Amino acid sequence: MSEETKDALWSQPLSPMEGQTLERIEQESKEYIRLMAYYRCAMMEIETKFRVLNEEYSLEYDRNPISTIKTRLKRLTSIREKLEKKGCPLTLKAIEENLNDVAGIRVVCPFVDDVYTIAEAFLKQDDITLIRQKDYIYNPKPNGYRSLHFIVEVPIFLSHEKRLMKAEIQFRTIAMDFWASVEHELRYKKDFTFTDEMAQELLKCAEMSSELDARMDKLRQRLRQ
Ligand code: GTP
Ligand code: MG
Repeated sequence: MSEETKDALWSQPLSPMEGQTLERIEQESKEYIRLMAYYRCAMMEIETKFRVLNEEYSLEYDRNPISTIKTRLKRLTSIREKLEKKGCPLTLKAIEENLNDVAGIRVVCPFVDDVYTIAEAFLKQDDITLIRQKDYIYNPKPNGYRSLHFIVEVPIFLSHEKRLMKAEIQFRTIAMDFWASVEHELRYKKDFTFTDEMAQELLKCAEMSSELDARMDKLRQRLRQ
């Protein structure tokens, strides 16, 4: 294409309809970026709360009940997929109303006891609202998955308003995290068929990881006596 033709294309006025659409896309993408920033703020608020708890426990008991804290923001492609799966419109309102896990926080602890201690201390905070809880430690999933899940609402304080944001928190031990990370990698491996036999083997590994947690806990109790 010659430079002249290119210039001619650029200078063609957009029809009002097209103009409106582009403006709307620009406006909506700004709003989308803003909403994602709010979710990131919610993750920061929550992560800080866990850091503070970890600090306090380390002062009090000279050990850290939290090994690692990871955060992740759901990507646009996953957001779109999930909204489509739920039959929701692809709008910002639908994201806020129907998705609980745009902001994800994972808290990994050495012992099962730590998981419940930290989760309980977090829930006691008066700006946190628990919306839903799933205790896959007490009731593991049939495939062996174990973790404690909370959907919470946390306020973020902006210059002119307070906004309540939802977030998904997963609490697990190091052993549970090891199993879940490897299981996730195997299950979603490209061009790879996940057989029933492999699922059985993974279930056995989950049981071993659960036993490992129990044995570690017993060792800890012996050290306490
Ligand atoms: P989804 O986010 O669509 O799964 O919603 P849900 O209501 O079924 O949530 P659930 O609390 O059961 O699981 C939420 C998240 O926990 C998932 O997105 C994963 O990160 C994690 N999870 C749940 N089950 C498994 C599992 O079997 N294996 C692994 N590795 N992770 C899991
Ligand atoms: Mg999810």
